[in-house]
Amino acid sequence: MVHAHSFLRWIVLILALLTIIKSYSAMSSKRSFTPGDRKMPLFFMISMDIQLLLGLVLYFTGAWGVKNIQNQGMGNVMKDSISRFFAIEHTIGMLLAVIFAHVAYSATKKTGDDTAKFKRIFIFSLLSLLAIMLSIPWPFREAGRPLFPGM
Ligand code: HEM
Repeated sequence: MVHAHSFLRWIVLILALLTIIKSYSAMSSKRSFTPGDRKMPLFFMISMDIQLLLGLVLYFTGAWGVKNIQNQGMGNVMKDSISRFFAIEHTIGMLLAVIFAHVAYSATKKTGDDTAKFKRIFIFSLLSLLAIMLSIPWPFREAGRPLFPGM
């Protein structure tokens, strides 16, 4: 489960980048919105929802979520930077990123100006990517994990 959650990060990052690049170029060229423009924000949102689901399972069954809070107590979890990272920082940062990905996709359903639509997709997918980058346990961080666990 941890390996699946870790590997899926790369798919999420690729889909986030593609959503950002496509919406930026469409916004710059001021072209019209087509039904095909819904696909990339949709795939990005779905990949985030799968991560949310896997993450919640890890949070409620794994060593770093609820179990750690029950064993150590919330006070001690907050004092230990690695415990706090997984119990609070990673979870809240990623929840924000999931919300931004949903807002980016919901922009595809709005009526009105197409350039404004692309701009909204661009801004919210960029905000989502920023929250993801700040919340991933990159190997250089204190709570760091391998880039490709099990390989
Ligand atoms: C709100 C949604 C999320 C929750 C609740 C969540 C929860 C967790 C938890 C509890 C762990 C620790 C797993 C363990 O060792 O037992 C973890 C690890 C991790 N999460 Fe998340 N996560 C979420 C979203 C994401 C997203 C969106 C990404 C990346 C795009 C991500 C990337 C990772 C990575 C890379 C690890 C380290 C895995 C390893 O140990 O190799 N998470 N997550």
